[in-house]
Amino acid sequence: MSALEYLSLGDPMFRADRFSAYRRLRDHNPVARVEPDGARVVVTRYADVERIFKDPLMRVQPKAGEFPADIGTGAGATFHKLSLPDLDPPTHTRLRKLASPAFAPRSLAHMRSWVERIIIDNVEALAAVDGDVDFVEHFGMRVPAEIACRLLHAPAVDAATVLRRMPALNRVLTHAPITPQERVEADAAAQFYFDYIGDIVDSMRGRLGPEDPVGALMLAEEEGGRLSRDELIVTLVGFFIASYHTTMTAMTSAVHALLTHPDQMRLLAADPDLAPAAWEEVLRWQSPVHFITRYAGYEFELHGETIAEGTQLMLGIASANRDERRFTDPDTFDIRRVGNRHLAFTAGGHYCIGAPLSRLEGDILLRLLPQRLPAMTLTDPNPPWTDDLVFRTMTELMVAPKGCGR
Ligand code: HEM
Repeated sequence: MSALEYLSLGDPMFRADRFSAYRRLRDHNPVARVEPDGARVVVTRYADVERIFKDPLMRVQPKAGEFPADIGTGAGATFHKLSLPDLDPPTHTRLRKLASPAFAPRSLAHMRSWVERIIIDNVEALAAVDGDVDFVEHFGMRVPAEIACRLLHAPAVDAATVLRRMPALNRVLTHAPITPQERVEADAAAQFYFDYIGDIVDSMRGRLGPEDPVGALMLAEEEGGRLSRDELIVTLVGFFIASYHTTMTAMTSAVHALLTHPDQMRLLAADPDLAPAAWEEVLRWQSPVHFITRYAGYEFELHGETIAEGTQLMLGIASANRDERRFTDPDTFDIRRVGNRHLAFTAGGHYCIGAPLSRLEGDILLRLLPQRLPAMTLTDPNPPWTDDLVFRTMTELMVAPKGCGR
């Protein structure tokens, strides 16, 4: 059986319960070929996925040192060629090192007060709602956009303008083929970001200290041009792109998981210090990103299969995070789980650079929820999910913040 038969979005069984399909793959086909020629394989066991993430010879670029021809030569191509997720060493190593101070402990300490403010204000807004409200629209989408805007020093009212162009830009940031029309739109979106973020960066010059994430990157830019202006802008936009959808999904999943597991909500209410562990468990149990791609940097054997150099490896993060070979009772949502080394942020050289910020957000949110919204209930027990293979998320989560009895 090929991987496509296990992972068919057209199959209602898969759409209803994809974790069973992942389990079947782990048990019977841990290296599943997508096409008969084997140019693409799906890897689903924790140990294999982790090993590939940590192997410095595996690539994110399909061909070593080459960029896809169809990205062209415009602003979109410049974006692609400077984006952390699209780069292999040595360029990735250099840019990643320069970007890292943005989420160092000093920056995190500086961010805490405004991240807390944004989350508290939005929780209070929910707490004031009588009746039903869609958590995705009124919190899940709003909070990550406000945080990303504040991180970049963009006015929060511009969030919709910034977000609107992301799908067009994203087309040039993946390795999927793009049409000439999509490239034109990607170039226009990229140029918008160069101008918009460029203006913000210029207006902030000399006003930010090294404890500010943007200030830390500007310092690297100003000190002898270690980071070019284009690199600085692409890195900052990359923070927005990488954080928005993942954080929205994680926050929505957190609320869904806790409301469908009242025993876990009670544990959290009784001991708010469980908040960091609860956030990790949400990320393991409902990984916001189900698959990440790598390309084999050399020929190797895996479970008796020969993987040729250049093979596209679809690494199943959500599957790995439910692998019974690694986690006890992996399908159980347990906020007191110990040794929860999930792969939701992956591992190795591309490990999510924003993980410390995400953990800060999770800590603040999950301490607050049981205190400020103790009676919140789900009003639709079967929320709709997207059919996307990679980014699986709820598109709506109807809740009654004050409880159903009101
Ligand atoms: C729950 C929230 C988040 C999740 C689940 C998440 C997950 C991920 C994943 C799966 C990757 C790909 C890593 C790889 O290819 O190996 C990644 C990369 C990245 N993330 Fe996150 N992320 C989250 C939040 C954030 C935040 C808040 C930021 C920044 C504000 C951020 C910035 C980035 C960046 C810049 C990369 C590219 C790193 C590189 O390629 O070196 N992420 N993240």
